[in-house]
Amino acid sequence: MSFTMNVRAAGATMITLAVLGAAMAYAAPPAPARAKGNAAAGKAIFTVKCFACHKLDGTGGVKLTGNPTPNWKDPKTWADPKRKNADAYMRDCITNGKLPSGMVAWSKASPPLKPADIENLIAYIHVLSGRK
Ligand code: HEC
Repeated sequence: MSFTMNVRAAGATMITLAVLGAAMAYAAPPAPARAKGNAAAGKAIFTVKCFACHKLDGTGGVKLTGNPTPNWKDPKTWADPKRKNADAYMRDCITNGKLPSGMVAWSKASPPLKPADIENLIAYIHVLSGRK
């Protein structure tokens, strides 16, 4: 008797969880490919921490020890297959750096940039690129 009730209770719990799971999946769709950061907040960081190597207008071309900084205003830059998922590529570069080229791992800098700062910077780089 009590066994039967436990099975029923477990069944009811699982149905409840499934319904909850479906509701949560609906409420939180996967993050869009496009950065949703705040470009103005990104600009405030960029003009202090990034412009020396990337230039204020994002045209780059500054070479330290490896690859030069990219020209974000050049459509050819964005056509490169490594930037197919541009936001993910930029997020990785800003978070983990490109140490052989001298690009800083900003998530480990002191003070470190927070994930929200990085999203804001990605949004600003899109603005600099002039692409829609
Ligand atoms: C000391 C110089 C330096 C500074 C400062 C710097 N970067 Fe970089 N960054 C580089 C170099 C060099 C590369 C090219 C790395 C490579 O391709 O190997 C790069 C690459 C990148 C990339 C990859 C872009 C692409 O499309 O290839 C992003 C995004 C980026 N930097 C963002 C930033 C941001 C945001 C900041 C400021 C928080 C910043 N960088 C500060 C040197 C710098």
